Amino acid sequence: MKATARAHTNIALIKYWGKKNQNFILPYNSSLSMTLDAFYTDTTVEFNEAFTENQFFLNDNRVNNEMATRVFDHIKKITTLLNQPNLPHFKVWSTNHVPTAAGLASSSSGFAALTAATVKAMGLELSKSELSRLARLGSGSATRSLFGGFAMWSTGNDLTSVGSAIDEHPEMDLHLLAIETNNARKKIPSRSGMQNTVETSAYYDAWVEKAKNDLDLMTYAIKQNDFELLGKVAENNAMAMHATNLAAVPSFTYFEPDTLIAMQTVQELRDNGISCYYTLDAGPNLKILTQSKNIEAIKTYFNKKLPKASIIQATFGPGIQYLS
Ligand code: ADP
Ligand code: DP6
Ligand code: CO
Repeated sequence: MKATARAHTNIALIKYWGKKNQNFILPYNSSLSMTLDAFYTDTTVEFNEAFTENQFFLNDNRVNNEMATRVFDHIKKITTLLNQPNLPHFKVWSTNHVPTAAGLASSSSGFAALTAATVKAMGLELSKSELSRLARLGSGSATRSLFGGFAMWSTGNDLTSVGSAIDEHPEMDLHLLAIETNNARKKIPSRSGMQNTVETSAYYDAWVEKAKNDLDLMTYAIKQNDFELLGKVAENNAMAMHATNLAAVPSFTYFEPDTLIAMQTVQELRDNGISCYYTLDAGPNLKILTQSKNIEAIKTYFNKKLPKASIIQATFGPGIQYLS
């Protein structure tokens, strides 16, 4: 009763930001993402009669805090929902090939890999859609990491609000450069950040309306293989999401001084005729969307502007994989 799964992170081009139902993790708006090849999580789950307690190891270290509780609760939810409540104790070993809780979507790959490994270790086979529904109960963004390429997560009820593939092998020439200016754990987790915004931001309703329109535009951009439209809509959608946080009470932001420098740098590159756009999640690290021909020029310019930042290059990644 042991299995290992690999899930890649995804970057939302149309963001999920706010839960209609916090128990079932049902979102106010549908979201759309690109799965990334450069960032992923490998997770092994083993159920064993010889184990005397449940244990969670992240990056080779035993974890005993709320992260472990979230993992244990997730496995208990899965075993209950799949009608196998009396399984033996388990151990979970997970390695994040992505900074943890730094706004680079570790919860998306983390809970997708955990869900797939748990179900396989139980000896069950579920569809990606069924796995996505279970992954959602761990972290909303994980719904999309079961799928490669472009994926979306639809609004709905507990059974219908799941991820699906839009195009697992897109033809679009699309690359992402993650500008890592601060990989420390964020002070405001995505979960509490979005909840505070739902409850207090005067801009929240406007955000939900806008996200619906942006999703239509983004779907069209993907169909038309239109990078410019994709980049413009993604950047604007990300900034609208971050604007809801500025209007929350009390106001908060994930932006840091280096985030603003990185945004200005993208603007300068565009002024110089280099086509690139940015997006960012609940964290300070900017992600640039661009095409092959511009990658080197962008890296060179960023090395001058933000010499301390690491730049990680990514393109489309695959859906869930089983390593054993
Ligand atoms: P991020 O931007 O990295 O997704 P979040 O605040 O959404 O940040 O989620 C971070 C949380 O996700 C961590 O505190 C932890 O609870 C969980 N997490 C991250 N990686 C893993 C993993 N590999 N296995 C299980 N849980 C994980
Ligand atoms: C800004 O999926 O991390 O990255 O469901 O509470 O675990 P929980 O939140 P999470 O939120 C992700 C927010 C985002 C946008 C996105 O990925 O769609
Ligand atoms: Co997250």
